[in-house]
Amino acid sequence: MKKYIETYIKIIEDKLDEYLNCSYPEKIWEAMKYSVSAGGKRLRPMLVLEANKICGGKMEEALPTACALEMLHTYSLIHDDLPCMDNDDFRRGKPTNHKVFGEAIAVLAGDGLLSVAPEIILTKTPKTVDKEILFRIMEEFYDAIGPNGMLGGQVVDIISENKKVDIPTFQYIHTHKTGKLFEFALRSGAIIAKADEKMLNILTEYAKIIGYAFQIADDILDEISTFEKLGKTPHKDANANKNTHPGLFGIENSKEELLALCTKAKNILQFNSIDSPLLVYIAQGLVDKVKGD
Ligand code: IPE
Ligand code: IPE
Ligand code: MG
Ligand code: MG
Ligand code: MG
Repeated sequence: MKKYIETYIKIIEDKLDEYLNCSYPEKIWEAMKYSVSAGGKRLRPMLVLEANKICGGKMEEALPTACALEMLHTYSLIHDDLPCMDNDDFRRGKPTNHKVFGEAIAVLAGDGLLSVAPEIILTKTPKTVDKEILFRIMEEFYDAIGPNGMLGGQVVDIISENKKVDIPTFQYIHTHKTGKLFEFALRSGAIIAKADEKMLNILTEYAKIIGYAFQIADDILDEISTFEKLGKTPHKDANANKNTHPGLFGIENSKEELLALCTKAKNILQFNSIDSPLLVYIAQGLVDKVKGD
């Protein structure tokens, strides 16, 4: 599995380098590339490619969308780390974008990635992909990233600091700020491969569970892990009075919920005979990571 993942990461990172190989104004491209090439697990683009593969698609047709999603995700991290948001000094093991380039350029680097991402989907997706499919991808992309999606989750996360939200509001935060990009990852890969609605629904169900579980794991790790392992500052959430899963339910309950969700995700794959060791590995990996800390 390690080799399989490394191969995906190499393909994704080579393409990201190619797409971001522009030069003027130097400052903004440098700032955009700094955060994109700082590393990261590349989980979301990998999910695009894997969903596409499961559904019998061609990788070159899904690669621009996969890379666009990683750019979009990186923009969300640059802005999430700003002093006016979560105020983080480290990301992906390196100083955050605003620490290196200053706040103004960091805001613009995020904006830059947010604008280049859809442009990549539109201009780099091979012409073998029907216009109708491309249109659907764009619709789902904007829905996943905007006020109905990731951005909506970020807004409620921020305005709910220093107060305890009810469970539906908490679930809204996690399923949107994190879950929506996971949903887009699996759905877009499948849509490009012309998957039928049944398959799309199965992968969406997996994505919803994994997206929510991913943020629960992130919340747990913020409490129990280290800078060396995370590449970002731990214990930030409690200090900022964030609504986290362990904060609301207690760390042991969070671990149990995480295990239950990941088991459910794996069962969905098995029940529907989806043969993807990677999707199983990702679900199991969330549980193992929390155990290891
Ligand atoms: C971090 O996502 C932001 C959250 C949704 C918790 P990742 O943990 O996937 O970050 P990278 O891409 O590996 O840096
Ligand atoms: C971030 O959630 C979600 C997005 C960036 C959209 P967090 O604020 O918990 O992510 P980290 O812990 O800073 O990576
Ligand atoms: Mg945040
Ligand atoms: Mg944060
Ligand atoms: Mg976090």
